[in-house]
Amino acid sequence: MGTRISGVGMYAPPRVMSNKDLEKLVETSDEWIRERTGIEERRVAKQGTPTSDLAAEAARCALEDAGIAPDAVDIIVVATFTPDMLFPSTACFVQSKIRAKNAFAFDISAACTGFVYALSIADALIRAGRGKTALVIGAEIVTSILDYTDRNTCILFGDGAGAVVLTECPEGEGLLSCHTYSDGDLWGYLHGPGGGTAAAGTPDGEEAPKRVITMSGNEVFKHAVTRMGEVSLEALAVNGFTKDDVDLFIPHQANLRIIKSVGKRIGIPDERVFINLAQYGNTSAASIPIALAEARAQGRCKKGDLVLMAAFGGGLTWGSALVRM
Ligand code: ACO
Repeated sequence: MGTRISGVGMYAPPRVMSNKDLEKLVETSDEWIRERTGIEERRVAKQGTPTSDLAAEAARCALEDAGIAPDAVDIIVVATFTPDMLFPSTACFVQSKIRAKNAFAFDISAACTGFVYALSIADALIRAGRGKTALVIGAEIVTSILDYTDRNTCILFGDGAGAVVLTECPEGEGLLSCHTYSDGDLWGYLHGPGGGTAAAGTPDGEEAPKRVITMSGNEVFKHAVTRMGEVSLEALAVNGFTKDDVDLFIPHQANLRIIKSVGKRIGIPDERVFINLAQYGNTSAASIPIALAEARAQGRCKKGDLVLMAAFGGGLTWGSALVRM
């Protein structure tokens, strides 16, 4: 027994922030951002919006796509590093909002690799008999933890949510394998210290630092290209496929130059790589399921297609998944 993706859905807040808008906030230019990242605009949630609002919208779309009622969901996993609250989990808020009263719900934290990790966990839970139907969601309001005086980071990210419904299927169909890795020694390249115990306020009146992303862009860039390339080739080799068998490659949408370099390393031509980075920026854990939903809607990912997904992110973490749609 294995698992398959039976439904996909996405949601992005309507407000668009263009590169020109960012020119008014930090010393940058539309030209620099396009050339160095490939990003043209990103979506921004209204201040105070809980991440679970976006996640619930994407979940409703995925359930409708699958033709499955909310009360048939057994497991809800939300991948996010921008949760509604420290606790309860964002997944519990989603459960309440979509009325999935028979599910158990929890969050996982693997930054931009979060969706691949969540898919892997949900697949393992279903295979272990802990449920038959899972909602796997990547949802972020990254703009809530950006420092709009830091041009190295604030231009990169956007908000959104994507979801898939995972259900049982015969072994050898659907989700063929997941590969997940981390190297905690490299945490310092990409992190958000505010809000955690390692950087908390004290009873003596010391203030907690702001919740913002801190990043060494060049280090993350090099790591992303190497690791996403490796883990993509691993997924193909383990399943006895080659690059020529892949109908669509969906990489984490962080930087166009990273995506092109990884495509070249694996040997998959541009026309079989899905890219929607220009419209959304980096939506972290939401980027792959948003891309999957858009690829499906555009007819670029059909039933029976072999889809390779790969991601990297804070941790540092990285991972891949190979799926027969
Ligand atoms: N506008 C204008 N100039 C800028 C900007 C900006 N927004 N940002 C940096 N610069 C300047 C720098 O100050 C530097 O100037 P200098 O030469 O005078 O010192 C110059 O541009 C080059 O800077 P680099 O950092 O070398 O630029 P690079 O080409 O590496 O691009 C970037 C930077 C876009 C951040 C790139 O390194 C990158 O995309 N890295 C990966 C980041 C990433 O994907 N992070 C998300 C990970 S997923 C997760 O878990 C959250």
